[in-house]
Amino acid sequence: MNDFTRAVGVEVPLICGPMFPCSNPELVGAVSKAGGLGIIQPLSLTHVHGHRLREGLQLTRRLADGKPLGLNALIESSSRAYHRRIVESVDVALEEGVRFFVTSLGKPDWVVERVNQVGGLVFHDVTDRRWALKGLDAGVHGLIAVNRCAGGHAGHKSAEELIDELGDLGVPLICAGGISTPAGFANALGLGYQAVQMGTRFIATDECRVSDAYQRAIVEAREEDIVLSERITGVPLALIRTPYVERMGLRAGPVARWMLRGRRRKRLMRLVYAVRASRRMKRASLDERGGQELWQAGRSVAGIDAILSAEEIVRQFAAATPTSAVE
Ligand SMILES: Cc1cc2nc3c(=O)[nH]c(=O)nc-3n(C[C@H](O)[C@H](O)[C@H](O)COP(=O)(O)O)c2cc1C
Repeated sequence: MNDFTRAVGVEVPLICGPMFPCSNPELVGAVSKAGGLGIIQPLSLTHVHGHRLREGLQLTRRLADGKPLGLNALIESSSRAYHRRIVESVDVALEEGVRFFVTSLGKPDWVVERVNQVGGLVFHDVTDRRWALKGLDAGVHGLIAVNRCAGGHAGHKSAEELIDELGDLGVPLICAGGISTPAGFANALGLGYQAVQMGTRFIATDECRVSDAYQRAIVEAREEDIVLSERITGVPLALIRTPYVERMGLRAGPVARWMLRGRRRKRLMRLVYAVRASRRMKRASLDERGGQELWQAGRSVAGIDAILSAEEIVRQFAAATPTSAVE
């Protein structure tokens, strides 16, 4: 055990990170049941996998055998309706017994305020010290250091640079990005991280409900096949280079770039991106014909050569946990 596993009540310092559109109750629940920590992505749960929020949370909890779960609050201020949905998801999760929250983007102070009332924990996604200080200012209890190898919105620093930069802040640090093997996990814990958050590795699992074509693409991709594209959300998003992605190009178009410059225009553009991206990614990840090949994955594809069960992954990583990291 280490401070993280003790505080959260899990056996293995391994998190299945939130993934829009890949987090489904079967995957999230299986990771927690096996002793890791599954994080629910509320928009993926409802918008992609068709569950009503409360029922989906309850289903995930049953699949997790009652073990701890987390919830992602992606704080995005581009629309009031979206903000209301996020606030609702945090409130319902607290009512349903969730005590661990992963916040990304924005200012997480309102999440911290609610979670502190029940003695839970908020860990904030950061890519450098400036964002870490903002998160700490809002009262978060730990930081998820998103490095440049991460799937989703990648950071711009290495795992080593981030531990140097954030190591003196006095809160637990979690490593996110580039890890898909037990050896990589052990190495991150050896660097001083309290836990590892993985995304890409968990997409290639029996429990993840994305299409076979997407899972096969992850197994077959090499590190060089991962590109960062601004075309989907306006900021670099890690994707597998496919003919579809090549046709689209990687840089935001001139109109989008102009829109992203002014403060009010930027809000509007981000709203356009959010709506368009969520539709496209939902369609592409579930489509068995593989016609749209818009598949998110990080450079950790390099270490993935088979589809495994989530339980098997947690078991392999548990066995690789260095004793020095968990005493
Ligand atoms: C397909 C995909 C979708 C993601 N969606 C989200 C998300 O909705 N919210 C979030 O905070 N992080 C998101 N992430 C980031 C992951 O939670 C995690 O930090 C990251 O995948 C770690 O890097 P790895 O893929 O190399 O393991 C996503 C990652 C992937 C691969």
